[in-house]
Amino acid sequence: MKQITKAAELTAAVEEAKKQGLEIGLVPTMGALHEGHLSLIERALKENDFVVVSLFVNPIQFNNKEDLEKYPRTIEADLDLVKSLELRVKDACTDRLIAFTPTVEEMYPQGEPKEVYHFGPVEEVMEGPRRPGHFSGVAVVVRRLFDLAQPKRAYFGEKDYQQIAVIRALLEQIKYPIELVPCPIVRADDGLALSSRNMRLSPEARAIAPTINATLEQAAEMAEYEDVDDVKEWVVDTLASFHEVNPSLCPNGLKFEPEYFEIVDARTLQPIDSWEAAGDLGAVGCIAVWLDGVRLIDIVKF
Ligand code: PAJ
Repeated sequence: MKQITKAAELTAAVEEAKKQGLEIGLVPTMGALHEGHLSLIERALKENDFVVVSLFVNPIQFNNKEDLEKYPRTIEADLDLVKSLELRVKDACTDRLIAFTPTVEEMYPQGEPKEVYHFGPVEEVMEGPRRPGHFSGVAVVVRRLFDLAQPKRAYFGEKDYQQIAVIRALLEQIKYPIELVPCPIVRADDGLALSSRNMRLSPEARAIAPTINATLEQAAEMAEYEDVDDVKEWVVDTLASFHEVNPSLCPNGLKFEPEYFEIVDARTLQPIDSWEAAGDLGAVGCIAVWLDGVRLIDIVKF
């Protein structure tokens, strides 16, 4: 693995790789890496000759200053994890894996970018209205990474399901011939979707957090015989009443507070009111839940 901090140096490495006819894979991350991120990098290494992993906490996608300040920065441990993949993946020799770790000034030399992206209906639901400017900030950084890394393929996790739809819309807008590769969620053994936010949960909260995934899995079973609206209501009620049904597991006012649970068309992300209304990619349930002051998100495919 080679660490690069300068955009010009990344461009030079990419140009050299292109000259040799190598296929480039890109894995954008904000660091604080866990097995979820590593699964993306591992897949990129398997499917490409040359892989760029970016580790950059992108300030312009945070609409809350405190959230940006609290974001974990664990760069040394991250680089060790990326290096450890070289042992896991055969042939991942040092010169074909790049960890790109720019500073904010390196990424945005002109200061805060003025570009604003609009994606229409896919960003007008769920995370969009709750995090104004977030997806535009994601699009700005991802486009910059596309320009620098010139990938053939770009890897994104399905945990951030709406982000994938937004990147798909971005690619249509800017007409870059990049293949978007959605990757499945990696979970802890008890089912909790891995997230850098999980480390902020107290032991009691961490113990009950797998209830989110368990509830969604049950919802997927219910979908075989219940209507969309009934499944939606059941998921929200089950989580919101968990502390009443299980008081011994919820000391000191611990409880789930669902922010939203939507059942949407997996491509357009528009809410559906019947299972038949879902298009070619099917239906997906997307949830955001507060637990112990931490906002957790997860999805289930129907
Ligand atoms: P970050 O939250 O660091 O996530 C980087 C990538 O890892 C995203 O594509 C995300 O969906 C994926 N990921 C996170 N947890 C995962 C899990 N448990 N299983 C599988 N994949 C998982 O998403 C971002 O960063 C940023 O918005 C970014 C795209 C880098 C732009 O700044």
